[in-house]
Amino acid sequence: KKTIQVALLGLGTVGTGVYKVLQNQREEMLSKLGAEVEIKRILVRNLEKAAKKVEDDSVLTNRWEDIIHDDAISVVIEVMGGMEPARTYIMEALAAGKHVVTANKDLIAVDGKELLDMAGTHHSDLLFEAAVAGGIPIIRPLKQCLAGNHITEVMGIINGTTNFILTKMTEEGMEFEEALALATELGYAEADPTADIEGYDAGRKLAIMASIAFNSRVTFDDVYTEGIAKITAKDIKYAREMGCDIKLLGVARNTDTGIEVRVHPMLIPSAHPLASVKDAFNAVFVHGDAVGDTMFYGSGAGEMPTASAIVGDVFDIARNIRYQCSGRISCTCYKELPIKQIGD
Ligand code: NAP
Ligand code: HSE
Repeated sequence: KKTIQVALLGLGTVGTGVYKVLQNQREEMLSKLGAEVEIKRILVRNLEKAAKKVEDDSVLTNRWEDIIHDDAISVVIEVMGGMEPARTYIMEALAAGKHVVTANKDLIAVDGKELLDMAGTHHSDLLFEAAVAGGIPIIRPLKQCLAGNHITEVMGIINGTTNFILTKMTEEGMEFEEALALATELGYAEADPTADIEGYDAGRKLAIMASIAFNSRVTFDDVYTEGIAKITAKDIKYAREMGCDIKLLGVARNTDTGIEVRVHPMLIPSAHPLASVKDAFNAVFVHGDAVGDTMFYGSGAGEMPTASAIVGDVFDIARNIRYQCSGRISCTCYKELPIKQIGD
């Protein structure tokens, strides 16, 4: 029986989900792949805390050297979050010829091109389906399924925490702080929820999607962001009186004069399809010249939906390893389009 050995970096909300899915789907993966996917190592900070979450604590380590110097490990799954040491570990793993799957939008939205270039140089793959919209398949559709289109617009609800907060404030009259605490408890919010509330998380996801959809380099710094911290219960009440809901939307447009990327709260009619996107669900609209309008909808955050996206990426890489395919799934060949300043 063939075994593909992977290492998991981080055992928090998403890491625990990945561990569960890989354990629960062992047989399923074996039958689909003709190979077993085995978690050989899990990198954690606190061994004692992590031991309560795994069946066999001998897989746990707090030494990166145990992973990077282990040639039997061919895939590294990074779910620690943050810029460092995640960036260094991913670079080192790619340089060592290991494939990497990550959910880290902070990193991809800023250094995606450098990381993909490193992957290219070393014939490794770097996949990040979970970095945008949790469990919803959107990166792969933009990159592959819609490749025959000139995409002019990508827009939607791409942050589960803020959509959850706005839903609870609208429908249950919940206070902002109470709804945020609940979103954190449910594993939707980032380690520092400022990123969610101020629209930075949505801005990072928008930059990643715009880069792929418009085949140009768009980074987080290019995105105009405005969050929901100033939205009050009164604003929501007045919006409702006008037959509208308030949603935090991300909008990316590819126009004749350049790329426009912005995240801010918007009033939308309560009958609009986006108004029915509630709680931590996300929805992304994509317009392409051949396909027309498409919409992607599903769970945008949380342990298991995010793990679903990660394991999908692991599966693609494992299949390539299993059948010794030489073709890489990820690549970068961007053109550089101008970015419009909001207000121009
Ligand atoms: P989390 O619950 O805070 O988990 C992060 C884990 O990584 C923690 O267990 C942490 O250990 C560990 N860690 C951090 N730095 C480490 C280091 N230097 N060495 C070893 N372990 C380290 O975060 P999360 O929600 O799982 O998110 C992880 C990543 O997925 C982030 O990039 C996030 O943006 C992304 N993501 C999250 C979601 C979601 O719904 N939560 C969805 C999509 C993408 P300690 O417990 O000791 O701090
Ligand atoms: N904090 C993020 C959200 C997690 O609420 O959407 C999923 O990317």
